[in-house]
Amino acid sequence: MKVGDKHYRTIWPHQDGLSVEIIDQRWLPHDFRVVTLSTVDEIATAIADMWVRGAPLIGVTAAYGIAIAMADDPTDAHLNATCNKLHATRPTAINLKWALDEMRHTLSIVATDKRAEAAYRRAAEIADEDVELNRAIGRHGLEIIKEIAAKKKPGEPVNILTHCNAGWLATVDYGTATAPIYLAMEAGIPVHVFVDETRPRNQGAQLTAWEMDGHGVPHDLIVDNAGGHLMQHGEIDMVIVGTDRTTASGDVCNKIGTYLKALAAKDNGVPFYVALPSPTIDWTVRDGVAEIPIEERNGDEVSFVQGENSAGEIISVRISPKGTPARNPAFDVTPARLVTGLITERGIAEASAPGLARLFEKEN
Ligand code: MRU
Repeated sequence: MKVGDKHYRTIWPHQDGLSVEIIDQRWLPHDFRVVTLSTVDEIATAIADMWVRGAPLIGVTAAYGIAIAMADDPTDAHLNATCNKLHATRPTAINLKWALDEMRHTLSIVATDKRAEAAYRRAAEIADEDVELNRAIGRHGLEIIKEIAAKKKPGEPVNILTHCNAGWLATVDYGTATAPIYLAMEAGIPVHVFVDETRPRNQGAQLTAWEMDGHGVPHDLIVDNAGGHLMQHGEIDMVIVGTDRTTASGDVCNKIGTYLKALAAKDNGVPFYVALPSPTIDWTVRDGVAEIPIEERNGDEVSFVQGENSAGEIISVRISPKGTPARNPAFDVTPARLVTGLITERGIAEASAPGLARLFEKEN
């Protein structure tokens, strides 16, 4: 998507043909920084410390990590060790495992002296495929927005609530939850987005709001607890969120707080949609609450908040007593019964095993 006059993806090969460049998302919206990652250790740090984040982008970054590893040492032992190292960076988003499995599968039939080249090629393909998947999600999601818009008075916007950042910054381009929104804007359908700030890392306030602002999408930032109130007062027409892992039976794991939004949506008859590319489906898991590993991050993310001071410096401030410990589960699971539909690249699936099987027969 455009930043100023320039089109960016979130990750792209460096001109040296070996490293990759990324948008370092830790500093947005205050500062737009691009950094180069040249080693597997740097790739692992960038994923674990959330320089890049969002399930699809984590997967693509790991794929490039394998390519970097293969340029260094293309043996099976090194391939396996690198896959294990990168897999350990973040436990919840299944796209990470999916991308590592794809790379391993591709390289398993390639001679060692050709592996580096094959790995860079496959990583680039996975990145391109992600963009196509998101555009397809956008087209299907747009139909839902159109249906809602058709019931409104002319010119009245479709009010969409989103949580966390499932925008272009969370993917290679377009985003999952945001793709239908961007396509609606392009189609001239009036939309307005309520952006949950998404404590503790504030991906909504820092990243989604930056995206909406940059692309001229009318939006309001709200605190995480405002959604239920706005739904009770008819201010939200639909919810669209992303997901880090969706089970074969349609349970949806996403950023902490998503479940509460789904409960409020159900209670108020607000449609709750989840946008996802098929690499986010974990066909091996049925019961999301029992089986999906939930990442517990450092409590300092809860105790401190990052922002910009009046001198334009990015600073971090403590918001709780020094002696207060903090828990920081990063994701939660929304049971399928609360999900109106799954917006996939193949169309809208009912959030159920038969619903997903109908669209993805082969995989199930
Ligand atoms: O911890 P993060 O920022 O990686 O969490 C991101 C999310 O929860 C997104 O909603 C999810 O990955 C879907 S991204 C298309």
